Amino acid sequence: MTTAGAYAEFGSREARGASPTYERLSQAVARDDALLALLDGLPPAKRQPNLLFGVVRWLGGPVGDPDAFHDFVVTHWPAVEAELLTRATQTNEAGRCAVLLPVLAALPQPLALLEVGASAGLCLYPDRYAYRYSGHRVGSGEPVLECVANGLVPPARVPQVVWRAGLDLNPLDVTDPGDVSWLDALIWPEHAHRRARLRAAAAVAAADPPLLVRGDLVDDLPALAARAPTDATLVVFHTSVLYQVPLARREAFVRLVRGLPGHWIANEGPEVLRYDGLPDPPNDALHNVLALDGKPLAWARGHGQEMTWFG
Ligand SMILES: C[S@@+](CC[C@H](N)C(=O)[O-])C[C@H]1O[C@@H](n2cnc3c(N)ncnc32)[C@H](O)[C@@H]1O
Repeated sequence: MTTAGAYAEFGSREARGASPTYERLSQAVARDDALLALLDGLPPAKRQPNLLFGVVRWLGGPVGDPDAFHDFVVTHWPAVEAELLTRATQTNEAGRCAVLLPVLAALPQPLALLEVGASAGLCLYPDRYAYRYSGHRVGSGEPVLECVANGLVPPARVPQVVWRAGLDLNPLDVTDPGDVSWLDALIWPEHAHRRARLRAAAAVAAADPPLLVRGDLVDDLPALAARAPTDATLVVFHTSVLYQVPLARREAFVRLVRGLPGHWIANEGPEVLRYDGLPDPPNDALHNVLALDGKPLAWARGHGQEMTWFG
């Protein structure tokens, strides 16, 4: 797909209905030959809308007015380019724990959680957050994660977690204000509730920081999994990660994770991890597929705001 096509699709499929600011901005970039030429000078993975918009926000630039955005990017291109080349989209969305929770709570307890592509590790605390599934409250504490649950009986309680560890090519540190402000810059402009959720979840993680290991989800998974306590159920999981991993490495990861003891939870786009016989998604919005040990169970919206159970 061309860069213009990627921005147009981002506007119409991802931002529409979720961020009028980014919908307008991505459609404007899709028609902006000067910005497209600058972006096309970068490696493909560095041209993405979320990365560009996050970098401009991080640098204090305007995203509300496409003309001002254009001027800022053109004028500050050396700084924008440098940040695009060194940073990555590492959005860490604690809200995705609302999608994981029903599966985690149904596994033999206690759990040893190992998240690959953990970013700052905010999804490693499903037992510390509270949840409201279509009004039904589970757990206590902050943040409270709201999830519209279709066809799902919400779990009675949160799981018991005795070990938590994350693996990431570039782990972020919730105790580092610079890392937290990058996570903040990646949140879309109108999403004040997600910004508040980031602060609350980062406080939970900072009070008891997770074991985060720098490494690759294929090369370094066996060694980290071997550190998990053997008297707990090992759960290797990932949410919105494998789209960043080339196909051959994705396949290697799936072979590897299937050979580990314990369970494997995937929450990824249907084009990223493919399953036979998926029902149609409930609507046109982008969805992940939640799966346990390779069996698809539910459609899940990207930030954990809604799930539709079919498993
Ligand atoms: C979009 S973030 C999602 C973070 C978190 N899973 C969540 O849902 O909030 C994807 C993360 O995967 C990491 N990642 C990408 N490729 C990886 C790889 N080969 N091995 C380990 N981590 C990887 C990135 O560094 C990034 O932090």
